[in-house]
Amino acid sequence: MARKFFVGGNWKMNGNTALIKSLVAETLNTAKLDETVEVVIAPPAVYLEKTRATANKNIGVAAQNVYYKKSGAYTGEISPEILKDVNVDWVILGHSERREYFKESNEFVGEKTAFALENGLKVIPCVGEKLEHREAGKTMDIIFAQLKAIADNVKDWTNIVIAYEPVWAIGTGKVATPQQAQEVHEQIRKWLADNVSAEVAENTRIIYGGSVNASNAGELSKEKDIDGFLVGGASLKPDFVNIINARL
Ligand code: G3P
Repeated sequence: MARKFFVGGNWKMNGNTALIKSLVAETLNTAKLDETVEVVIAPPAVYLEKTRATANKNIGVAAQNVYYKKSGAYTGEISPEILKDVNVDWVILGHSERREYFKESNEFVGEKTAFALENGLKVIPCVGEKLEHREAGKTMDIIFAQLKAIADNVKDWTNIVIAYEPVWAIGTGKVATPQQAQEVHEQIRKWLADNVSAEVAENTRIIYGGSVNASNAGELSKEKDIDGFLVGGASLKPDFVNIINARL
């Protein structure tokens, strides 16, 4: 099975109703987008419903987080059921900003990933090392521990897209070189083959995130284990279209 190229736009804590109009209604909906690319955008939670109602049907919508209970007294949280009720199919989990600022552990991310999948969402779990880990030669130890916590909980990998986001490349303008990214993606795929199955390794999309823009997306996309991107800052601009179309 060929892995469909995937481009996600993570708006983080940015955007407003004006951006939904200018970027979604007037730009993404009207642009000619590469049909071989799966596009998913992730606005802040309060804008999910409006984004879903505005975006063309071929554009997916993702939440930036979800909790691992069906419903109940969990003030401030959102369940998979609530997301599905407003027709949101995807969720990003374990982004490094959530791991760093909200102290999300590997185990918590693994449990939330499994719960979201079991409750009908497609999940983009994020993994990635900090600069200090890379400099200490611990990049893959960190990533394998993050992957293991996911694999310990998840039974069916069909609806997972793994995002590799080196923390040192996020929002810094310091993009990983295509070789640096490819090297990690290849090792993630090998880890999946060794620890989950050859089939999961072959079929799971592994996307890169960290200072992706329209100028570097083309080169990165040529690497054989890079199946797409998770874009932050540049996903808030019309240039997002050029990232989606980088392989044309
Ligand atoms: O999830 C996307 C991300 O963390 C990358 O952000 O702004 O470096 O593209 P940015």
